[in-house]
Amino acid sequence: MSHQNAPQDSAPRAPVTIPGLRALAAEGRPIVMTTAYDAVTARLADASGVDVILVGDSVGNVCLGFDNTLPVTMAMMNHHLEAVARSRPRALLMGDLPFLSYHTGVDDAIRNAGGFLQRGAAAVKLEGGARRLPVVRALVEAEIPVMGHLGLTPQSVHAMGGYKVQGREADAALRILDDALALQEAGCFSVLLEGVPADLARKVTEALSVPTIGIGAGPHCSGQVLVLHDILGLVPGPSPKFVRRYLDGFGTLRDALARWGEDVRARAFPGPEESYTLPESARSALDAWRPPT
Ligand code: KIV
Repeated sequence: MSHQNAPQDSAPRAPVTIPGLRALAAEGRPIVMTTAYDAVTARLADASGVDVILVGDSVGNVCLGFDNTLPVTMAMMNHHLEAVARSRPRALLMGDLPFLSYHTGVDDAIRNAGGFLQRGAAAVKLEGGARRLPVVRALVEAEIPVMGHLGLTPQSVHAMGGYKVQGREADAALRILDDALALQEAGCFSVLLEGVPADLARKVTEALSVPTIGIGAGPHCSGQVLVLHDILGLVPGPSPKFVRRYLDGFGTLRDALARWGEDVRARAFPGPEESYTLPESARSALDAWRPPT
């Protein structure tokens, strides 16, 4: 078992900040964001050079076996955020506010979002448009940087009637555009667009001065986010249309584990190189030992 905590990359790189993200967007350089839920995935994401690590409430479906994100609590999110923060990523660390952590009033929202910052996050994300403006304003007033999240918002799965592309009709598309402008006006430093047509995402990106981050929102956003487990193919079964898998992680890791199991069953593991040896004096004592009669 490895006990190394330090990043493998020895060249020091400046930590990613919110002004740094703004600068990337201003230079037309795409912002790269992925998820992490523990120290292992955080180190992996950070070593790959992503700009933003989101401890997403998708931890509920991806790691905790829930059908959707609604059962995810602040206690669960804090547990995972703390694990990621301990890896001290260079990427900007963002905590995803779970269902009911900001719907019950601005005081709860400030306490929960502020708790993320006290645990090492530099920003939070929350879902929704016009209805969330008082909360966004209060968080920004409390010096808590906020990323908005519009379009297919998984915490509204029941209200949406399932995970469906949003903003396909004119009034819905215009509402998303209005919401994005209102979130920017309320102080969001960025707006995430999920599951919306590419042309709508382009219009929103052109209308905003803050960067947009897309997932299932086409190529015109200022940056892109995908769930790490989807990129690495760690979730078996078909992926949504907007996912591109860069590895059959599930198959590759399963085969490696199966090979280890075969070695154990064939008594080919552990070998001398994975075993500890006794000094000669102790070995002689053991050889001389006889069971008591
Ligand atoms: O929870 C999550 O992973 C998200 C995605 C948009 C990346 O919110």
